[in-house]
Amino acid sequence: ASSSGAVALANNTTIVVGGGVTFPALFGLYNNGFLPEGIRIIGYARSKMSHEDFQSKVTKYIKTPIPAMKQKLEEFLKACSYVSGQYDQDEGFELLEKEIKKAEETYSDKNAPKNRVFYMALPPSVFTVVAANFKKHNYSEGGINRIIVEKPFGKDLDSSREMQIGLKKEWKEEEIFRIDHYLGKEMVKNLLVLRFANVMLDASFNKNLISNVQITFKEPFGTEGRGGYFDEFGIIRDVMQNHLLQVLSILTMERPVSFSAEDIRDEKVKVLRYIPEIKPEDVLLGQYTAEGDKPGYLDDDTVPKGSICPTFAACVVHINSPRWEGVPFMLRAGKALNEQKTEIRIQYKDVTQGVFKEITRNELVIRVQPGEAVYLKMNSKAPGLAMRTVPTEMDLTYKRRFSDLKIPEAYEALILDAFKGDHSNFVRDDELDIAWKIFTPLLHHIDEKKPKPEGYAYGSRGPAKLDEFTSKKLGYARSEAPYSWPSTSVL
Ligand code: BG6
Repeated sequence: ASSSGAVALANNTTIVVGGGVTFPALFGLYNNGFLPEGIRIIGYARSKMSHEDFQSKVTKYIKTPIPAMKQKLEEFLKACSYVSGQYDQDEGFELLEKEIKKAEETYSDKNAPKNRVFYMALPPSVFTVVAANFKKHNYSEGGINRIIVEKPFGKDLDSSREMQIGLKKEWKEEEIFRIDHYLGKEMVKNLLVLRFANVMLDASFNKNLISNVQITFKEPFGTEGRGGYFDEFGIIRDVMQNHLLQVLSILTMERPVSFSAEDIRDEKVKVLRYIPEIKPEDVLLGQYTAEGDKPGYLDDDTVPKGSICPTFAACVVHINSPRWEGVPFMLRAGKALNEQKTEIRIQYKDVTQGVFKEITRNELVIRVQPGEAVYLKMNSKAPGLAMRTVPTEMDLTYKRRFSDLKIPEAYEALILDAFKGDHSNFVRDDELDIAWKIFTPLLHHIDEKKPKPEGYAYGSRGPAKLDEFTSKKLGYARSEAPYSWPSTSVL
């Protein structure tokens, strides 16, 4: 057991992977010696597959640039096997149980308790039934059992609650690990340190100094064949209610008493409770249209004709806490935009004018991906005889600052945490509930009233109204002087 009371799974562990493509992350961990010794991995899904087909599926997305990795991959494959079965019938799970028992025979210590981890990367429709069947047929008596689950966790507050009730009938909260893979990203994890280990930043994080905050997620590709899934959810459910809200809660929470999972999650829940539901007038919705040889959202054959599903959304969020009251936050996410980028942009208030006229505002930018970086836009005197100011930057670009940079994959980091029994970077039940409360009225409004999203061309910055919306709702001041962050070229 670690000092936080979390129990790490040592040897005698079997992982069952339901559906999904988790194998590259598992191999990444295996390759670096992070999985328990003698681990066995069993895939479980409906497709009937020969052992060879399963192996080629597993290896499809695994890259082995050096010979040592190829050898490791051979070893890894020997630890993997596959069972095919239905999600709602006993028979498949009984076969799975036999396979698990067979795997457990190979463990060196035959008498030690047998640990089992169940990884569920499955469609929401079968989620509850599979979790119940794992419990009924495959639960290890005497060993440690953990279940890792992936979004979507429902479509609104009620369906999420229903799902969680189903899950909790069978599994204890301490056994459940709800993944939001943004919590495994290096820069998201760094937020706690940046904020609370730097007096200067900590002291400036409040309504007295900060004017507005934007959390932006952009992708340069559309739904491309994934439209069937996407259309049921839309951009708000796909990335905003989960990934971006997670970033927001860590960015704005109070300092936790300790870094233990419950202390951190208590603070996240607390700040989320200060957020009132999002109002439709505080939202700008968009949907991409064809541009050049790039298809529009509605041109995707898997998308229903005339769909009003938003592929872009900008939502203004308020936090009515003593620290943040009056500071508007904007969550913004879109597919088929001009670039790939996830970043947090904190704009400070104007400096008292007087001696300065039209001087640009300070901005602290935390770039989550690609090219992790933190930079602070600040004004300096332009070197020379004249008294002239120029916007410059204090720049922590990871690639330059950290040699031998190896940023762990989010999924690798999170699976490892689940093996360690550390819940800090997983979503707690009450946290999920409150996240849905914030978005559900808006989502129901969209589902029922069907507001038509603004069109924007594939590859553009988003709907034409975006800049006006941002400056009106946030009071975001675009700097007059042309400024571009110089590190863009090294990323
Ligand atoms: C997923 C969404 O959760 O996150 C996808 O379903 C999105 O639509 C993806 O593309 C983004 O993850 P990342 O790690 O590539 O930023």
